[in-house]
Amino acid sequence: MASSRRPLIAGNWKMNGLRQDGVARAKDLAARAGKAAPKCEVILCPPAILVQTVAEAVKDGSVAVGGQDCHAKASGAHTGDISAAMLADAGARYVIVGHSERRAAHHESDGDVRAKAQAAHGAGLVAIVCVGESEAQRDAGQALPVVEAQVAGSVPDGATPKTTVVAYEPIWAIGTGRTPTIEQIAEVHGAIRKALAKRHGGETGFRILYGGSVKASNAKSILALDDVDGALVGGASLDAAEFWGIVESC
Ligand code: PGA
Repeated sequence: MASSRRPLIAGNWKMNGLRQDGVARAKDLAARAGKAAPKCEVILCPPAILVQTVAEAVKDGSVAVGGQDCHAKASGAHTGDISAAMLADAGARYVIVGHSERRAAHHESDGDVRAKAQAAHGAGLVAIVCVGESEAQRDAGQALPVVEAQVAGSVPDGATPKTTVVAYEPIWAIGTGRTPTIEQIAEVHGAIRKALAKRHGGETGFRILYGGSVKASNAKSILALDDVDGALVGGASLDAAEFWGIVESC
């Protein structure tokens, strides 16, 4: 982590837990953050239906809330979807867009993800834009070009470090307990930073998170890398103590 960028640890709860679990976990983390004043920003991304409840549970502290997805349009006939403004209205400050699970299960393209990030910006939310290669792409030596193309296609032109965070999440590392080597993470993060700097006027202040099987026991070595500015955490974010262990690794 470079000291000029404030690290961010984001918990992606995915489709897990009911209201009681979510509120208890959020309150637990807010209490820990209140006592310890962590060096990093901490955000929780609950299922959409819990965004408001979780935002209320953490409202007086330093923990922020994010959505897991938003629609690209501001409103309209999109049954089942949620707009970025609705998330903001419910108390969210961030939204994850382009998670590989949505790219795969909902056929979201880079263009779709870019439109969602723009919608997030329009509603005043910070977009966490996810990218990452599949195992076959890595085995074929294509990890860097795949990720660079995703960054080029998914990050909007007007993105700034204030409005946009990029999360590198190799698909094969998500929920598998496997992580890339430290060298592989450093290589991809370096390439993403270079690509962002080239396109956004030499700007190197973007925060780039690593995601994929991050836990308290491996967070320290990953977060120690210069170009890693935090983590996007799935499974381990469902356990407050484990997630807090990651926060403490900053
Ligand atoms: P994981 O998920 O930490 O369970 O691997 C990460 C993510 O999908 O954001």
